[in-house]
Amino acid sequence: MILSKNVALVGFMGTGKSTIGRLVARELGWRFADTDQLIERRAGCEISEIFAREGERFFRAQEHAALASLRGEWRHVVATGGGIVTRGENVSLLRELGFVVWLTADEETIFERVSRNANRPLLHTPHPRATVAALLAARRPLYESAAHFALDTAQVSQAEAAKTIVAETLRFFS
Ligand code: S3P
Repeated sequence: MILSKNVALVGFMGTGKSTIGRLVARELGWRFADTDQLIERRAGCEISEIFAREGERFFRAQEHAALASLRGEWRHVVATGGGIVTRGENVSLLRELGFVVWLTADEETIFERVSRNANRPLLHTPHPRATVAALLAARRPLYESAAHFALDTAQVSQAEAAKTIVAETLRFFS
C-alpha cells in the first residue's frame, strides 16, 4: 500500500542509483537521501569499515534501520544499497515509501563500472566477476518483484535516465 509520495531507486551496485537519484531530486525539487550515506553518517565510518569490523549481518541491520528512518517522509528521492532487497521487510518499506524504480544494466557494464573503485566489500573475493554474476542472478527476481518500473541504464546517459524517471514519477502519482 502506498502511504506517501517518494521515489526509491533500487538496483545492483554500479547502476547509478546515487548519481541518477541526485539528478531526479534536483529536477523534481525533492530532497535526496541515500541509505549508504545515512549508515556512514551514523557510524562515523565508511561502509567498507563497517563490513570489516562488524560483518555483513550488522551492516544489514543498519541498512534496515536507515530505510525505516525514512518512513513517513514526503517528496524524497531515496537511493539504496544494492543488497537492500535481500530483506523482505525492506521491500515492504520501499513500497510503502512510494514509487520504486529498478535501475538495471547488463553484467558486462556492471562489472566494468564496479571495477573502477575498490570500495565494495562484497566484491573483495578471489573471483569478483563470478561474484557479480552470482549476486545478480540471486537478486534479479528480488528487484523485479520490488519495483513498479524498470529502467536500463546501460545505453542512456545519466541525465536521460533521470528525465525518464521524473516523467514516470509524475505519471505514477498523477
Ligand atoms: C551492497 C551495495 C553497496 C553497499 C554495500 C553492499 C550490496 O551499495 O550498500 O557495499 O550488497 O550490493 P551500492 O549499490 O550503492 O554500491
